[in-house]
Amino acid sequence: MTIAAAPLIEANDLNVWFDLPDGRELHAVRGVELKVNPREKLGLVGESGCGKSTVLMALMGLLPSSASVSGSVKVGGVELLAGGESAFRAHRWRDVSIVFQGAMNALNPVIRVDRQITEALELHGVASGPAAHRRANDLIRLVGLPEAALRRYNHELSGGMRQRVALAMALSCDPKVLLADEPTTALDVMVAAQVLALIDRLTRELDLALVLVTHDLPLVTRTCDRVQVMYAGKVAESGTPAAIYHEARHPYTRLLFAATADLHGSGPDPVTIHGSPPRLDHVVEGCGFASRCPRAQTDCTIQTPVLHTAGEGRAWACHHPEGRK
Ligand SMILES: Nc1ncnc2c1ncn2[C@@H]1O[C@H](COP(=O)(O)OP(=O)(O)OP(=O)(O)O)[C@@H](O)[C@H]1O
Ligand SMILES: [Mg+2]
Repeated sequence: MTIAAAPLIEANDLNVWFDLPDGRELHAVRGVELKVNPREKLGLVGESGCGKSTVLMALMGLLPSSASVSGSVKVGGVELLAGGESAFRAHRWRDVSIVFQGAMNALNPVIRVDRQITEALELHGVASGPAAHRRANDLIRLVGLPEAALRRYNHELSGGMRQRVALAMALSCDPKVLLADEPTTALDVMVAAQVLALIDRLTRELDLALVLVTHDLPLVTRTCDRVQVMYAGKVAESGTPAAIYHEARHPYTRLLFAATADLHGSGPDPVTIHGSPPRLDHVVEGCGFASRCPRAQTDCTIQTPVLHTAGEGRAWACHHPEGRK
């Protein structure tokens, strides 16, 4: 399909609850707003458990059956959540694709790379037979691997090579948006840099938009056009890297960056964010960050801050935001 000028992918008031085995619910994603325009690179950051992967799975329509979802997910302006699985199936992999968290460790150990790629191509209805093999050759070269890699098994590949194979599979249907969930987490620094350079090159060459989930904040500010900071299932703040880095309004954003070591070693020592995020299997009263926040006042523990929008792509959810530096 041709995606028109509407945002490539958009979520509004997205909520996800997981049923827990003991009958309770965990409210993992709480009213998230997200928008990605053509060729835009969005970085999604925040502490472990804040809901980044769950948002991506909701965008793909791939949440487990224990999850309930509400709100809106649109691809190219077309509402998918209301349309259910058949609506998602029409766009999944073809318009929106994903490299899952830990994808490089999820390749099938007993079939060779070429079969894994051609099976994906056949499954997604892209190509079969000799055409699928030709496409697999093209894809493997696209991700910078030699054709010989197609004849290898998982255990014969290095971590970086496996991540490139996962990327090739994600690109097999020529998507418009790639969701990359911590694509370099398990890789050493040098290989991670190579994989990121590859993703960066591919986004340009293939006109791809990117949602990059990572804990690497310096990377996000270098690579992305916009950064969205999540906390306890909500959007805490979003803006350009410059705004998020130099003019963060949410105290959590400032602390998150202050907690990150300065790569050049020239800045102040990293700080620790005391306490931990609220449990999402309990009702979160007021601002979920209040108990850890140096600026919290009484209203923060009572009233949930709404996302305050201050121009295109710039927003924060805080009752007592930091001033500009
Ligand atoms: N299938 C599930 N069943 C129950 N709870 C889940 C399930 N998947 C995720 N959760 C919970 O939802 C919340 C969000 O998890 P999610 O994996 O989206 O976080 P994340 O930001 O991707 O974390 P990380 O940085 O560690 O990957 C967490 O509290 C997690 O325990
Ligand atoms: Mg995750």
